[in-house]
Amino acid sequence: FSSGLLAGKRVVITAGPTREALDPVRYISNHSSGKMGYALARAAVDAGAQTILVSGPVELATPDHVNRIDVQSADDMLAQCLALVADCDIFIACAAVADYRPGTISTEKIKKGPEKISLELVRNPDIVAAVAASEHSPFTIGFAAETNDLLAYASSKMERKGLDMIVANDVSDPAIGFNSDHNAATVLWPGGSRVLEEASKATIARDIIRLIADRVSLIRD
Ligand code: C5P
Repeated sequence: FSSGLLAGKRVVITAGPTREALDPVRYISNHSSGKMGYALARAAVDAGAQTILVSGPVELATPDHVNRIDVQSADDMLAQCLALVADCDIFIACAAVADYRPGTISTEKIKKGPEKISLELVRNPDIVAAVAASEHSPFTIGFAAETNDLLAYASSKMERKGLDMIVANDVSDPAIGFNSDHNAATVLWPGGSRVLEEASKATIARDIIRLIADRVSLIRD
């Protein structure tokens, strides 16, 4: 692993879950730990990149030499990412962004009362697709977590979102993924793929950074 692999490159990584407020004290979220995104940030720094983490709320220490921007909702994350995109060479979307948010945020705590209440949810923006479609589109990498037909779904997701690369995870295997310290993946790009066998998230992150550096030098030099 050469420390100069991404020298001079500016890398933005989204990580962790988003929190979608319901009222001043409640939110909708998910169990994303942020570990994969933080491991990627560490690997990007080791490869010599200027690295920014746009992070949802997680219980992780900020890796050395990483500039961390904390966000809560998908809308916050989108705004931060779009503000950074013009000064970014490589964008890695590792966050588990909530697909939906409450249609309205109550300004007061919602009171207990009726036996049944319902919640209207509205679709959140797709952050990685917005970055890929932006005028200063960086080399853009997304993740796809699937339980079946992994490679077919991942490859159509790459095309639909306009990505340069996608990391496909089989989440039907409980030994890897979300909260685990291990992962395994298949990395796809237009015209190629690489299987990354089960390993620590640190090792998988370095492998992903190496593949990104290879593709960036082929495409952009
Ligand atoms: O569509 P799906 O959620 O399966 O796509 C996963 C990929 O898209 C991940 O890279 C994730 O970070 C990104 N994503 C995003 N904004 C969303 C939903 C997903 O950036 N609203």
